[in-house]
Amino acid sequence: MCNLIDGKKIASSVREKIKTETDELKKKGVTPGLAVIIVGNNPASRVYVNNKKKACEQVGFNSYEYALKEETTTKELLELIDKLNNDNNVDGILCQLPLPGSIDENAVLNAISPDKDVDAFHPVNCGRLFIGNQKFLPCTPAGIMEMLKYCDIDVSGKNCVVIGRSNIVGKPMAMLLLQSNATVTICHSKTRNIADITKKADIIVAAVGKENFLTEDMVSDGAVIIDVGMNRNAQGKLCGDVDFENVSKKASWITPVPGGVGPMTITMLLKNTLTSAESRIK
Ligand code: GUN
Repeated sequence: MCNLIDGKKIASSVREKIKTETDELKKKGVTPGLAVIIVGNNPASRVYVNNKKKACEQVGFNSYEYALKEETTTKELLELIDKLNNDNNVDGILCQLPLPGSIDENAVLNAISPDKDVDAFHPVNCGRLFIGNQKFLPCTPAGIMEMLKYCDIDVSGKNCVVIGRSNIVGKPMAMLLLQSNATVTICHSKTRNIADITKKADIIVAAVGKENFLTEDMVSDGAVIIDVGMNRNAQGKLCGDVDFENVSKKASWITPVPGGVGPMTITMLLKNTLTSAESRIK
């Protein structure tokens, strides 16, 4: 029988620690502050932003929301970021992606001060990750590493396969696994015979964005399965990239969707914001 990696439970244990550290920091006169920018009316982004604000409240952070209209220009957004970069009450700045097509996303991500870039999307922070000298960890991959650690799943020397090569998940995930001495393969939409590769994996991280992408025949007995997918099926139900029902019969450990990776991503955002706030008194 396969073990469930309970992201909700692990997230709540990490958030307890964050809350305790926040209480200590507040005694020294520092309340961590996160600025969250949302542009336009993407309903999924609205849900994510609400969850992030709620999580801030729970651990005692200040959160500042900037909800901008769809027609906002790149220049207006850059002016807001400049203001937040210089605001001493703001430790972290997060601009919810995707942005409307008319906005220059690269210019926006480059404008956030690397010292307040709690998503770790700025090229400086990507570079720091590449050389293993990071200040902020990319939230979803860091959340996954935390889950593996919590479940005592050692990645050193293991064959780890990451499916997906996005800047948000796939690439930084591969970097963190490599830093922990895994042997890492990244698969993507042009990879030939993915199943031949995944069948040799001890650990699979699926970050594809397609319902039921990872099926039972692609997985070896005892593999650890991490599902980053956040898809809606035909019935509108939230589901991941993994055929959970059948893959869980072969896996040793598996994350559910919902209640797996999702709660950990926000937890790591809180951790990065706390790290940033702590540097105010260092
Ligand atoms: N859109 C989807 N995931 C993320 C994330 O982790 N951070 C931001 N800023 N936008 C996202």
